[in-house]
Amino acid sequence: MKRLPFIAGNWKMNKTVEESLDLVRGLKVSLQGIEDVEVAIAPPFTALYAVSQELKGSSIHLAGQNLFWEEKGAFTGEISPVMLKEIHCRYAIIGHSERRQYFGETDETVNRRIKAALKQGLKVIFCVGETLEEREKGINFLVAERQIEGGLKDIGETAMQSLVVAYEPVWAIGTGKTATPRQAEEAHQFIRQKIRFLYSPKIAENLRIQYGGSVTPENIKSLMAEEDIDGALVGGTSLNAESFSRIVRFKEM
Ligand code: PGA
Repeated sequence: MKRLPFIAGNWKMNKTVEESLDLVRGLKVSLQGIEDVEVAIAPPFTALYAVSQELKGSSIHLAGQNLFWEEKGAFTGEISPVMLKEIHCRYAIIGHSERRQYFGETDETVNRRIKAALKQGLKVIFCVGETLEEREKGINFLVAERQIEGGLKDIGETAMQSLVVAYEPVWAIGTGKTATPRQAEEAHQFIRQKIRFLYSPKIAENLRIQYGGSVTPENIKSLMAEEDIDGALVGGTSLNAESFSRIVRFKEM
């Protein structure tokens, strides 16, 4: 059985509440009738509640861009999985390279966040990917391996059914430099192989692996044509309803 394609928009630190609502209204219109692709959007925390109200009855899912592993307490500035669940988030993005790069996220903290999210019934978009320096040194697979082993430590088979991996080479994020479909496919194959080894052929076969890094309406089709690429995590291009919908509607191109 072929995996259901999954396109998610990561808005990062963009869009006020008003701007978020505008974008979401645009998306509801342009994505009407989409059934054979799963779609999620991750607005900033301040806009999540308003967007969740606007999305009532829509098939577009909501995602948090991050979360903290405790349920509540004295953790100034953090948001818990329980809070995301309450406002109908289905997914949480965890371990994005910007979190790792600018906010001290490590494989260990990524692992704690993933476990906390899954425990509360959220699904997880777990991000991995190498920097340019790591690719040039030829250690890109080693990095992916370390991130996967660390991020998924003590996560069981059942929980894995609620997890999606996003392979995002850091050198391709926001740079306009997409990985070639070949480069992305190689990484995705490697990740699937690793999951097969850590879990089982069935878990690996069912796992959806998104590609992320300068995805556009122009390159989505060739990326999606690869066997192991099951979707995309889209940053910059997800900030516009028209271009994001064209990505979601890649089959029609
Ligand atoms: P980009 O970002 O599409 O702007 O390159 C992707 C991401 O960071 O998820």
